[in-house]
Amino acid sequence: MTEPLLTINKLDAAYGPVQVLFGVDMEVYRGEIVAIIGPNGAGKSTVIKAVVGLLKSRSGQIVFDGRDIIRLPAHAVPRLGIGYVPQGRIVFSHMTVTDNLEMGAFLIKDREQRRRSVDAVFAQFPRLHERRQQAAGSLSGGEQQMLAIGRAMMLDPQLIILDEPSLGLSPKYVEQIFEQLEELKAQGRTLLMVEQNAARALTLSDRGYVLELGRNRFHDTGRALLADKAVRELYLGGR
Ligand SMILES: Nc1ncnc2c1ncn2[C@@H]1O[C@H](COP(=O)(O)OP(=O)(O)OP(=O)(O)O)[C@@H](O)[C@H]1O
Ligand SMILES: [Mg+2]
Repeated sequence: MTEPLLTINKLDAAYGPVQVLFGVDMEVYRGEIVAIIGPNGAGKSTVIKAVVGLLKSRSGQIVFDGRDIIRLPAHAVPRLGIGYVPQGRIVFSHMTVTDNLEMGAFLIKDREQRRRSVDAVFAQFPRLHERRQQAAGSLSGGEQQMLAIGRAMMLDPQLIILDEPSLGLSPKYVEQIFEQLEELKAQGRTLLMVEQNAARALTLSDRGYVLELGRNRFHDTGRALLADKAVRELYLGGR
């Protein structure tokens, strides 16, 4: 049996004195798309923040590529091979699309190599190439999200973690983002994502985890979760 790329084991996490995660377990294997779903406040973003080092007080294990990273600070995480797309389409509004992408490659000292990374992202997102000289703030919401994903891919990460990639986008852009995620899946990329669009996310995903009140509630294949009566009633609007 191959080892998971990411293993979260008995993770406890707290904001100050308030504990919000209680013994959370998750695994992500190479080439898998894994979705985390659950109601507001369930702790989905907190799991991600713990993995990318943005949240300190915690116990348990977070093993990435064979190494326990639970004590690593956030700035050390990109060089491990983890790309992170935070919630909220965060781009540098006054900088061009190209410069935004370059910001995602601060670890690459070689200018030529950095350019090749930018070109690879442009090949993936032709729309960004068309807009490369524009200020990021002038892009549509969907394009800004594409840019945020592109920036996370600049270091060619082994794992891409996305927090609510479709949140707040109009249906047309939600569609575009899911098409991009499909494309990443077709390339064999490994993704861990949180999505409020749970049915959509589970359809795309190999496996899913349902969190509730900071605890694991269900986990199964995306298909099995979609078909599960309790999951449908509780988390997919009863359909
Ligand atoms: N910075 C913070 N300080 C204190 N408490 C926080 C902080 N961020 C989140 N929380 C609390 O931790 C719990 C889990 O929050 P989290 O953001 O992980 O939930 P979520 O599942 O991502 O929810 P949503 O679907 O609303 O994004 C919630 O009770 C929330 O109020
Ligand atoms: Mg969240």
